[in-house]
Amino acid sequence: MKVAPSLLSCDFSRMGEEVSRIDAAGADLIHLDVMDGHFVPNLTIGPGIVKAVRPYTKLPFDVHLMISHPDSYIDPFADAGADIITFHVEAEDDIEKTIAHIRERGVLPGLVIKPATPAEAVFTYLDSLYMVLVMTVEPGFGGQSFMADMMPKVRALKAEIERRGLDVLIEADGGITAATAPVCREAGVDVSVSGTGVFKAPDAAAAIREIAGTVQNN
Ligand code: DX5
Ligand code: ZN
Repeated sequence: MKVAPSLLSCDFSRMGEEVSRIDAAGADLIHLDVMDGHFVPNLTIGPGIVKAVRPYTKLPFDVHLMISHPDSYIDPFADAGADIITFHVEAEDDIEKTIAHIRERGVLPGLVIKPATPAEAVFTYLDSLYMVLVMTVEPGFGGQSFMADMMPKVRALKAEIERRGLDVLIEADGGITAATAPVCREAGVDVSVSGTGVFKAPDAAAAIREIAGTVQNN
């Protein structure tokens, strides 16, 4: 399983160094959480920060938009250096148009589902997606408890992707640590986001290896 550390849990006063540190620790992707204070009750980073930390790594930037109007922000985040942009199926903009906009910018598109949204909500769009992100907490804050009851959605998505012969990745986000990662791996998650599980760990490299499943967590 690939690991995408979420910068939401990094030291915000030293973001560039934190990106370099997590790259050196073995991260596969860098996950950046964008919140607008409307779609979720929190405000985080904008395109200016994404652009500022872009020179600190060559790893892909996985930008997770928790905003009501994602289509208006595709260009600024593409310009800032996003490689993947995911947005919520529950947001207010036209989904097909937003996916097409992301593709036009040469960025890989993904759709995100909140815990109350069924896997089937993204089935219509699977052919045009690079990734589906299954939230394993309510979006808005880091450090919440992992919802293992989201794993049937991961399995349903995996089955549908395989049935249709597609090549869409499944990402999970929220509460993933060395302790909860095995459940994700067993369910077929391809990429796990981890904020506190990596940035607050005493040894980030060990935490990434444990989440990835390349070493046993004893
Ligand atoms: C929550 C964010 C997550 C968050 C994960 O809304 O989408 O990416 O940073 O943090 P942890 O791993 O601490 O739950
Ligand atoms: Zn996220």
